[in-house]
Amino acid sequence: MVLPKFSLFYWLLLSSLVILLINYQVNCDDDEKDNLYEGINKYRALLNLKALTRNENADCLADKIADQFKKQPCTNTTGANTVPGTEPQFSNYPDLLSKCHLAITNTRDGNVMPACVPGLVPSLVLTNFTKSLYSDSLNDTQYTGIGIGSEDNWIVVVLTTNTPAGSFAPYSSNGANLTSRFGLIYCSMLFLVGSILLL
Ligand SMILES: *[C@@H]1O[C@H](CO)[C@@H](O)[C@H](O)[C@H]1NC(C)=O
Ligand SMILES: *[C@@H]1O[C@H](CO)[C@@H](O)[C@H](O)[C@H]1NC(C)=O
Ligand SMILES: *[C@@H]1O[C@H](CO)[C@@H](O)[C@H](O)[C@H]1NC(C)=O
Ligand SMILES: *[C@@H]1O[C@H](CO)[C@@H](O)[C@H](O)[C@H]1NC(C)=O
Repeated sequence: MVLPKFSLFYWLLLSSLVILLINYQVNCDDDEKDNLYEGINKYRALLNLKALTRNENADCLADKIADQFKKQPCTNTTGANTVPGTEPQFSNYPDLLSKCHLAITNTRDGNVMPACVPGLVPSLVLTNFTKSLYSDSLNDTQYTGIGIGSEDNWIVVVLTTNTPAGSFAPYSSNGANLTSRFGLIYCSMLFLVGSILLL
């Protein structure tokens, strides 16, 4: 009876290790986004504006849009230097929305702001939003939420409102959120099962 007990224990140990590693990677990837998030809210605090709260669905959409940009080089016609109205349009935008459980109806009032900064140097990333035309949007009281996504040299900020047309209606069906919750439950179960087996 000893052998099956041990293989179950090691199987649990191995799988939780894998889950912990996945979570670790997710967290590492978030650094430049967290920097920008904090930087933008400090900028808003200086202007006596309320901090923007993180919106998971806007995060998701920002990631999907960054993914569309990632093959494009940084030029003077894309990113923070974009002339309003000449932003690249994506024919598959509705697909990107639906991948994030969103629709045109609850994202229409949102604001998508892509920027390209080689190496995503944190100080340059921040000024590309706070010291460009984008600062007018960051300074706008109608925005209450924010999502940030990045791929390669591209970082995308999506602003949301607290009106139905810009709510980006956050559901709980975010992948990373599920992963971390699953990981937490899994680890607690591991400790339970582990202690029972070791008794
Ligand atoms: C981008 O740069 C090129 C060459 O430097 C210039 O001809 C063009 O007018 C610029 N475009 C914009 C939108 O500034
Ligand atoms: C934005 O980033 C570019 C690098 O892509 C940099 O050259 C430029 O100075 C930045 N602009 C601002 C306003 O910070
Ligand atoms: C932000 O908006 C306020 C009120 O509309 C205005 O007084 C202020 O000058 C703006 N600041 C910047 C940096 O645009
Ligand atoms: C996960 O989603 C739930 C429901 O939307 C939210 O209350 C919670 O704060 C989220 N957790 C994390 C770690 O993002």
